[in-house]
Amino acid sequence: MELLDQIKVRARQLQNRIVLAEGTELRTLKAAEIIINEKLARVILLGNPETIEEITFKEGINVSGAEIIDPATDEKRQQYAEMMVEIRKSKGLTIQEALASLNDPLVFGPMMIKAGDADGEIAGAINATGDVLRPALQYVKTLPGVSVVSGVFFMLFKDKSVGDNGVLVFADCAVMPDPDERQLAEIAVTTAKTAKAIAGIEPRIAMLSFSTKGSAKHPLVNKVVNATQIAREMDPTLLIDGEMQLDAALVEAVGQLKSPGSKVAGRANVLVFPGLESANIGYKLVQRLAGAEAIGPILQGMAAPINDLSRGCSVSDIVNMVAITSNQAG
Ligand code: ACO
Repeated sequence: MELLDQIKVRARQLQNRIVLAEGTELRTLKAAEIIINEKLARVILLGNPETIEEITFKEGINVSGAEIIDPATDEKRQQYAEMMVEIRKSKGLTIQEALASLNDPLVFGPMMIKAGDADGEIAGAINATGDVLRPALQYVKTLPGVSVVSGVFFMLFKDKSVGDNGVLVFADCAVMPDPDERQLAEIAVTTAKTAKAIAGIEPRIAMLSFSTKGSAKHPLVNKVVNATQIAREMDPTLLIDGEMQLDAALVEAVGQLKSPGSKVAGRANVLVFPGLESANIGYKLVQRLAGAEAIGPILQGMAAPINDLSRGCSVSDIVNMVAITSNQAG
């Protein structure tokens, strides 16, 4: 079974409550109808019920199976505001400020999760990544023992000889602009867990650079060398190697030439890029020029699953992301 089909089967079994924070957005409403019909999750739409009713009536969309919550009037506002004040007391957040910011569905959604009223959230069809992430980072925060939230893409290739049965995992393509060596190590460790949990992949992690095993000398190369060492210390069971160039990571002959004896070189299925610039540009190159399907960004390291959509997303991207978010919620 293809990876996305496996994810959808599991989502149907889990029946998690997933918040669609942009509940008055057309693609989101069309996706909600599909999710309800395909029983992929229990859908919670945030937004003004009259606006939702108007749009769905005009467009012939049926979301009667969804729970609709208006962040501006919901009875739980006071409870959530008190929780927010408690979480942000060191930042001096007042109850009035908390109540005002709860009008924003991008704040209300994470607070529903924090209060146990939902299992996951997606947004980003009409909001920038930073605006989706900031409230999630501030209120839902990271998993115990994790300090860095990052984002992975599952790159799906028609050619099943690529990576793991046609799947390569790329990180961090979405969040940390310039991770330091410790943060890069943490991204590698977390990505290995995500690759296993979502796709059942046994990770072989390449820590990418413009140098392979000392072929170039530069502080940026040292960062990747040190990150690889730290990742090994964080999880001695990891199959990880670096620093290495992309061809050494993926092409058997080049890998054995540039990094002889490496268990990862030439066979990597998880690629950890040295920073957000190379990762974000890299996944888009592979998507646009190699025709790979890019599933993500799947955010990892957060205490509960909150995922960000691209503003260019399609209805089916939203449906897929709801299924993935539900899988992450477990
Ligand atoms: N992991 C965990 N916590 C984090 C992280 C992280 N990666 N980044 C920030 N935080 C925390 C901060 O510690 C802070 O916590 P506090 O308020 O409790 O002290 C809070 O989140 C807010 O952080 P700020 O630094 O004030 O917020 P900032 O404006 O820097 O936003 C953000 C953080 C949104 C993640 C920023 O780094 C960003 O915009 N990253 C790039 C996102 C992006 O544009 N990606 C490319 C597009 S996505 C795509 O193409 C697939």
